[in-house]
Order: sequence, then C-alpha cells, then structure tokens
Amino acid sequence: MAAAPNIREVAVRAGVSVGTVSNVLNRPELVAEPTRERVYAAIAELGFVRNDSARQLRVGRSRTLGLVVLDVANPFFTDVARGVEDTANQHGLAVILCNTDEDPIKEASHLDLLAEMRVQGVLINPIDTDGRIAALRDRGIPVVLFDRRGDPAVECSVAVDDVLGGRLAATHLIESGHRSIQFVGGPLTLRQVQERYEGVSAVASAHDDVELTVLTTPALNVAAGRAAGDRLAAAGRDALPSAVFCANDLLALGVLQALTHAGLRVPDDVAIVGYDDIDFAAAAAVPLSSVRQPRQQLGRTAAELLLAETMEADHEHRQVVFEPELIVRESSAR
Ligand code: RIB
Repeated sequence: MAAAPNIREVAVRAGVSVGTVSNVLNRPELVAEPTRERVYAAIAELGFVRNDSARQLRVGRSRTLGLVVLDVANPFFTDVARGVEDTANQHGLAVILCNTDEDPIKEASHLDLLAEMRVQGVLINPIDTDGRIAALRDRGIPVVLFDRRGDPAVECSVAVDDVLGGRLAATHLIESGHRSIQFVGGPLTLRQVQERYEGVSAVASAHDDVELTVLTTPALNVAAGRAAGDRLAAAGRDALPSAVFCANDLLALGVLQALTHAGLRVPDDVAIVGYDDIDFAAAAAVPLSSVRQPRQQLGRTAAELLLAETMEADHEHRQVVFEPELIVRESSAR
C-alpha cells in the first residue's frame, strides 16, 4: 500500500512552502484565496489527511515543543502561550512551559533540560544566551525567537515593531499636550524595552519643547511599577512629569496603584500609557491606555514557523513583524 501523502507532497503539488500548507490548515485567513484554493485542490488530488502532518515531525523526538518565557506571571506570556498551544495541539503536540524570571542562569538550565527531553523545537523570548541557543541548533533542535527580531541567517523570529510602539505612545502624549514625559522600564538590556525607549526618544527629540526623562526599573512587573510610582510621588508635585510611558502594562498598573495611593489623580495630575494591552489594562481602576500587541497571534505564528522548520527540508528562515496598535483609554485621555 503506498505511503499516505504527507504535507511536503501537498506543498510541492500546490507549488507552495510547507509553512503555507500549515497556514491553510491552521490559519487560512492568513493565506490569499487563490493560494488557498491551490492547496485545497492538492489536498483533494493526493488524498492528504491532515492528522498525518504529525507524522512529518522529527522522528526520535518527543511530541512536545519547549516554550521559554521571561515571566510566567505576566499575562502577556500566558496569552502568547495560548496561541502556541492552539497550534501545537493541532499537530498533536504538547507544550513544555519554562519560566526564566529574566535570569540567564535559569534560562540556560531550561535550554539544557529541553535538549535532554528531545523536544521538537524551542520557542524563546531570550535574555542573553545566544551561545546556548546555538548549541541547541548544533544538536539539530530548531529554535524560533518570539517577541524580538532574529538574525535571518540563522533563525526564524516573530516580533512586534516595538520602535513604532514607542513612537505611537509618545505621539499620543505630545498631541495630548504633554511636554514632560518619563519613560519607566528596564532592564534596558532587554531588546524589546530598548526599542520601546528608542521609539519614544525619537519622537520626543523631534520636539524642542518636550523633556523626556528615564526611570529604569530592575524588572517588568507590578512591584517594580509600584516602586517607580512611589519614587515619582515622593519627589513632590513640582517634580512630577505630566505623563509616564511604561515599558509594559504590569509596570503601568504598579505606577497607577502607587500614584493613586499617594493621592495623585490619573490622568489629571499624571497621564499613564502602558504596553501589551493585557486584559487587566482595560479592567484597571482607571482604564489604562496601552500599546496593544497581538499576543495570541504572536504565539500561533511562532509555533507555525517552528513546525515549518521542523517539517521543511528546504526551510528558509523568516522574520515576521507585526504592527502594534495604540488603545487610548481614561488613563491618558485629554
Ligand atoms: O517581558 C516583559 C515584556 O516584554 C512583556 O510585558 C511584553 O511587553 C514583552 O514584549
């Protein structure tokens, strides 16, 4: 009996990549109608059965993907994980979630463990373990970066244009009349934090009457936001910036809590803009303006790129960059 047709044969018949076939099967809205129809025709002609796609995965490896995130307590990453799991489960795979707490030592330990567990591949929002990531690839384990751009020569990546995100926040605040803006975030060694700062700085420096200050934080969580808000409040009303742009929503929620606790009004005394647009942003006591990232789509796309690399003999690395969107709410309304 002839072997059942596989996803690669469908791709050849339709004249597309395996990743495109995977998209047609999992995210048809991403694929142009004419291409979709060619793939469906190839599936019908070959009698391809989609659950066979799991058999195209790397033999001798577990039916799992590794997902390494910076902070599992941050809803941004649980939303990304939801997207990863949706795609993984469509291919009969489970997801092993690893939390690094932005600690390079923990991250390296997780990568070693995932290699020992012979995962199909690893999705990672990296801190600074390029050497470890290269070692995984040397062992034949594909690694896709998410939430930051990668090196097209060696990897696939999925990110949001964080420089544009910073620009959107700064433009909104300046157009709302703010002339003293403080960027709250850190560590600036994290690529996504650095790029958000670059965006806000580029816009602020184009306006002679705008003062941009920076309050770096040791982490990107609510506690670090509360500490930053306490410092702002303690400096006194005359020293307050008229607006704060936080590198993510958890920081913004912490700043909001501290300023409110100190008797300051948001946005009347200080406007606040966050980043990610997690569900808690809209639900905050003062609904938070935020730069939205397509979190679940980031996860789905990263997982699809990883599976394509696993299944495609002639894989070509791709860098997918989504555009952020500014959502204006009460915390920075005019
Ligand atoms: O890891 C901290 C932040 O980086 C998240 O909130 C999200 O913005 C990611 O890009």
